[in-house]
Amino acid sequence: MSVEGPARQMCAERSRGVLRALTAALIERYRDRLPVTATTPVVTLGEGSTPLLRAPRLARAAGLRELWLKWEASNPTGSYKDRGMTLAVSKALEEGAQAVLCASTGNTAGSAAAYAARAGLPAVVLTPQGAVSGAKLAQTRMLGATVLEVRGDFDEALAAAQELAARGTHVLVNSLNPYRREGQKTAVLEIVEELGAPPDAFVLPYGGGGNTSSYAQALRELGVDTPLVSVEAARRRETLATAIRIGAPVHAAAVAAAGARIVAADDDELVAAWRRLAVEEGLFCEPSSAAGLAAVLRGDVEGERLAVTITGHGLKDPAVADRLAPPPALVDPDPDAIAAASPSARSGG
Ligand code: F0G
Repeated sequence: MSVEGPARQMCAERSRGVLRALTAALIERYRDRLPVTATTPVVTLGEGSTPLLRAPRLARAAGLRELWLKWEASNPTGSYKDRGMTLAVSKALEEGAQAVLCASTGNTAGSAAAYAARAGLPAVVLTPQGAVSGAKLAQTRMLGATVLEVRGDFDEALAAAQELAARGTHVLVNSLNPYRREGQKTAVLEIVEELGAPPDAFVLPYGGGGNTSSYAQALRELGVDTPLVSVEAARRRETLATAIRIGAPVHAAAVAAAGARIVAADDDELVAAWRRLAVEEGLFCEPSSAAGLAAVLRGDVEGERLAVTITGHGLKDPAVADRLAPPPALVDPDPDAIAAASPSARSGG
């Protein structure tokens, strides 16, 4: 009787603590480093605090001592965009916004739709015609956003979004919104905290450059001088990696000013890195997200302890996987047939 009471209480406290950790808002974790006040309404879906995973096989293949993968796919909507969106939408709500607006190749779209729904605000999303994955569109539509397909590419959709936002009716939540960049810098904070020191380099995909600007800002604020390597699609306008199919990066000047090194990877390299990440480390990301890894596997990044950001989940853009991965063979529901079709089947265990 005397044991059960306190023990039970301890368990209850412990599970409350675990629950708190699991549902922690990024804004709460980094409140002192973000532009929020005690009265800012926190719009959260439990973003951030994503896994930092060691990749021993790929490290060996690339001749590295340590390769760390920041698995941003485990954010609530499946990409790193949620880090910035929690702050952008919280601040929009605080400042009395009536609606949010973005142009997107798909991930910003899903994130804006989710956080706007959470905040009770309407979201308008502009997508380049015919160039966004069906899964991302379904996610965005299901979350209640108004999706407008623009006759044009991403750059034209973004320009239109900026023009409309300038009228003051909608808050732009692309990474031109400074709160987006403030939120996204937390990925670097998490990596440095978890490794106990900065890695020899941070490596990430380069689309419009918003995330690179965010990482650079984090490094400046930490007073850390670590190389930042941004990897773009060699053929920006045609790459199969639709998330980074962006002709003219809107943050190009900021990326250059930050001293980030820009590296190009062609689609064959992207796909090879993407496939190896899946088969050798068990991580299925979307093709664009493997850009950083492509540069690392090519031996293009100096250092022996690297942090590579994997930006979005494979389920968000499964079309290329569906085309390239081996299709299932059709077998009878019979153990001999199944064993015969299983390359590495072994008995025992
Ligand atoms: N990785 C993913 C999965 C992305 O969705 C994006 C950009 C990037 C990398 C590039 O990041 O633009 O900050 O350099 N996606 C935007 C969108 C364009 O609309 O979802 P960046």
